[in-house]
Order: sequence, then structure tokens, then C-alpha cells
Amino acid sequence: MNRRELLSHLAACATLYPQDRVLSIDDMINVFDFDAACKLRIPRDAYDYVSGGAEDEFTLKRNRDAFGRITFRPRMLVDVSKMDLSIEVFGSRSEMPIFVAPTGSHGRVNPTGEPATARGAGAAKTIMGVSTTSSFPLADIAKAATGPLWFQLYAGPDEEGTREKVERAVGLGCKVILFTVDAPYYPHRERDLRNRLVRPEVQREMGMRRRRPDDPETERYGLPQRFTATLTWAFLRKVAAWAKVPVLVKGILTAADAKLAIENGAAGVVVSNHGGRYLDGDPATIEVLPDIVAAVGGRAPVFLDGGIRRGTDVIKALALGAKAVFVGRPPLWGLGAYGEAGVARVLRLLQTELALAMGMLGAPNLAAIRREMVVVDR
Ligand SMILES: Cc1cc2nc3c(=O)[nH]c(=O)nc-3n(C[C@H](O)[C@H](O)[C@H](O)COP(=O)(O)O)c2cc1C
Repeated sequence: MNRRELLSHLAACATLYPQDRVLSIDDMINVFDFDAACKLRIPRDAYDYVSGGAEDEFTLKRNRDAFGRITFRPRMLVDVSKMDLSIEVFGSRSEMPIFVAPTGSHGRVNPTGEPATARGAGAAKTIMGVSTTSSFPLADIAKAATGPLWFQLYAGPDEEGTREKVERAVGLGCKVILFTVDAPYYPHRERDLRNRLVRPEVQREMGMRRRRPDDPETERYGLPQRFTATLTWAFLRKVAAWAKVPVLVKGILTAADAKLAIENGAAGVVVSNHGGRYLDGDPATIEVLPDIVAAVGGRAPVFLDGGIRRGTDVIKALALGAKAVFVGRPPLWGLGAYGEAGVARVLRLLQTELALAMGMLGAPNLAAIRREMVVVDR
């Protein structure tokens, strides 16, 4: 949005709201409002980094659309006067089955960065996933945190370096390792490329600034030699042995891989397509969830992320077998627009929507959300 567009948008807002309340945090009534407010309040390239996806953004859109193909079969005259949304998993407690997904570079959307996100998540009494590519050192985030932290691992730069990251995170009190496996290469996120947001070394990796073809260092197809691209399931066993805390494999989209994850030491899986930011053409996560839940067969918890923007989306995921969900962009929009308070509010809004919808569905607690309460269109 350029300056002229911004001014005209603000003028339009001013006709809708009293001038002094334009875009105050109290005007935010759902996650989409935070998206719009964030778009207005942070630089365009930072907004695009958060909100964009890979290539045509097909998967990004599909994550959302797929929730629209699921409807409810609500039950009436159930006592829903006392609602309980709380959950405990791997010794971490949360007041809602909605956790903060690990996302990189919070400093890009707000200088207060991950420590502010951690305080916001703590205020909402939920669990925060902390990315390997955080803007702040993990020790600072851990110091600021008032709730449980789960550490997201990108392997690299080599085996020893990976081991150090895992041990440091566990040493700093992270209760779970989220091992991300869907990123062997860095994708073409075209908004970032056009905004020239991508770091030079990453651009080089992507072959964006090509070396001469006769340069002996030029890799085949312009692909870099990345440590992550060499990994196989055997590496998961090593991560699990180093961690000594539960390791969840993040980025699973097939029943076959879910089984391999459990067989190779995972304590659970996160059904994820990285929010449509890596392989464009991946299915929506909610579409593949039922097959994965069936394959895991209760041996380990299955989590989901991707496109959760409403309390009703959370119920759909739980009814189809997810233990809990993660949200990636919503807390970042909250952070970008209003800092720590925005993170807390966006999470609380989702919690309230979830409680309302569970009440109307006839489910006073998470265990009462059952498979037969949803219908998936064919
Ligand atoms: C800006 C941004 C940065 C992300 N960084 C990471 C990361 O460092 N590690 C990771 O495993 N996933 C990362 N993700 C993916 C999220 O963990 C999560 O899978 C995804 O955002 C869920 O989709 P949603 O944004 O639609 O909720 C990132 C997502 C976004 C939007």
C-alpha cells in the first residue's frame, strides 16, 4: 500500500469510526481485522513476508478454502453452562487447544520481536513455538516467557551444529522439539523476491544471481548444497536421542510419512504445509488430516496447522482427530499491529470464538468434540 492508498483508506475508516478510535485494538473483532490493521501499520515488504506464500499461492488459499467444505451436526439441549477449553500435552498446559506456531523473524514486523510474542502468548496462557530463525536469541525469549516454549528445529549447518541447537534449547527449558522436515530447499516466495526482501545468501542459493555456467562451483539446476537436503529418516532418530524431550515432526502430509515418523522416534506429528510457504501444490492440511489420524491410530498425538482463522476451524480440526492446532500468521498480525497486546488479543479472540462455537455445538469440553459432529463435502 503506498502513501496515497493509505491516506484514502484512513479517510474511509474515519467515516466509519469516530476519528480517535480509528484502528484501535478495541476495534479488532476477529483475526481478519488484525490482518488489515497489520497491513496498514507495518512496511509493505514485512507484511508480504508474513502473509505471502510460495509461487502462485495455491496452497495458501486452499488451506482456507478447505474449511469451507466442512459443516457441523450440532447437538441440542446439552448442558454447556460450564465450558472447559484447557489441555495438557507433554507436560505443557494451555488454556486453549490453539498454540502459537513457530515463525521466523518477528523483529521484522515489530522491533519488540519474539520476547513480546512470548509475553503475549503467556498472557493468553498458551504454548509458544519458537523458531530456529528467531530475531532474538533463544535465551532472551526464554527469559521473557511466562508460558511453555516448544523449540522449532531447522537442522544445520551440520550434524554437530544441529545437536548443539537441540541441547541448548532443551537446556533453556523448551519442553518439546518441533523438527521441521518440509524445507530441504528454500522456495520461491515471489512477493519477497519482488520486494528484494530475501537475504543475499538465500538469493544466491536460489540461483537468483547466477554464477557463470562454466564456474565449477555452479550447482546442478542452480540448487545449493544444503545440509537439510541430505537428511533422511535416520536423522530423526539422532534428533530424538539428543533431545531427551518429545520430538514432533512438523511438515507431515501423508499417512506413510506419519507412520515413518512414529517408527523413527517421533512422539507425534504436525500435519503442516508450512502455511503454503514451501511446496505450492500441497493439499490443504485439513484435507489430509483424517488419513493421517487413521494411520497413526492413536499411537501418538497428531497436531495441525494451516489456515486456522476462526474458532470453528479449530473445532473442525479437533473433530477430524487433531489433538490441538497451531496458528502462524494471526499472532504475527497481532504483533505487527499492536505488539504484545495484539498477540494476546488475537489468541483470546480465537479462544472466545472457539468457546462460543463449542457451546452451540453441544460440546462443553474438548473431549466432547466428536467425529460425527462434522460432515465433509465430497
Ligand atoms: C512469516 C512466517 C514464518 C515462518 N517461519 C517458520 C519457521 O521458521 N519454522 C517453521 O517450522 N515454520 C515456519 N512457518 C510456518 C508456521 O510454523 C506454520 O506452519 C504456518 O504459518 C501455519 O499456517 P498459518 O500461517 O496459515 O496459520 C512460518 C510461517 C510464517 C507465516
